[in-house]
Amino acid sequence: MEDLAGQAVLVTGAASGIGRSSAVAFARAGASVALLDVDGEGLAATAELVRASGSAAEVIVADVADVDAVARAVRDTVERFGRLDAAHNNAGVAGPFVPLDEYPPDEFLRVLQVDLLGVWHCMRAEIAHMRRQGRGAIVNTSSMLGDAAMPDNGAYVAAKHGVNGLTRAAAVELAGAGIRVNAVAPGVTRTAMTSAVSAELLQRVPLSRIAEPEEIAAAAVWLCSPGASYITGAILVADGGWLAG
Ligand SMILES: NC(=O)c1ccc[n+]([C@@H]2O[C@H](COP(=O)([O-])OP(=O)(O)OC[C@H]3O[C@@H](n4cnc5c(N)ncnc54)[C@H](O)[C@@H]3O)[C@@H](O)[C@H]2O)c1
Repeated sequence: MEDLAGQAVLVTGAASGIGRSSAVAFARAGASVALLDVDGEGLAATAELVRASGSAAEVIVADVADVDAVARAVRDTVERFGRLDAAHNNAGVAGPFVPLDEYPPDEFLRVLQVDLLGVWHCMRAEIAHMRRQGRGAIVNTSSMLGDAAMPDNGAYVAAKHGVNGLTRAAAVELAGAGIRVNAVAPGVTRTAMTSAVSAELLQRVPLSRIAEPEEIAAAAVWLCSPGASYITGAILVADGGWLAG
């Protein structure tokens, strides 16, 4: 287990799935955790799990698409814990599965606002505090679809390719400020987002199974830990071998 004792971390999309597992994993590593999501009920349940692990939890109901709300959330986190050592920008939506020429423009925009701009909204606020500290680690949740395409999922594919670009751009821009920026790129993971995964889809996974959210969380926590001190600008693929195939 990583040692993040005394550190403070912000996790977005923390009300369920990968974000909840990440929050608990950071807590088990000894960090205090600020939990951000639009789902207050889910956040309360995650906060219970974090506290049961012996760590402090701060609940923040906010929409990552709202740049001002995100800035306030980061400010509140720093006020509460006195610092911000790491952040896992993970909140995301899948969007509808429809061909590109039939994709409703408002829904396309919403996917970009949450999955791509939402990550940037978080990063810009986190970076401002981390610059003052002279150190920090950020991990964004991308997807195996950040480096590959799937039919009828165009907005999501575009957004996740954007997350990879944003991660690399931030890594080179912020290395001199002592801030490392990486992404974790999950394959098919057992969460609300993938409640109906077809057997055909799973046949394409070399490890022949779906990932558990804890397996993605472990990668995110490690990327924020001292063990990953020389890693920045990396897209750590955790997809059971899908992209290698
Ligand atoms: N599950 C998978 O197979 C898979 C694969 C690759 C990448 N991902 C990515 O992992 C991340 C987490 O997804 P998950 O699988 O845990 O799904 P999930 O639906 O369980 O969790 C997503 C969380 O994000 C929150 N959220 C959605 N929109 C938000 C907004 N505008 N502001 C704040 N919070 C918001 C939701 O309320 C939810 O709690 C997403 O970025 C997703 O794209 C998931």
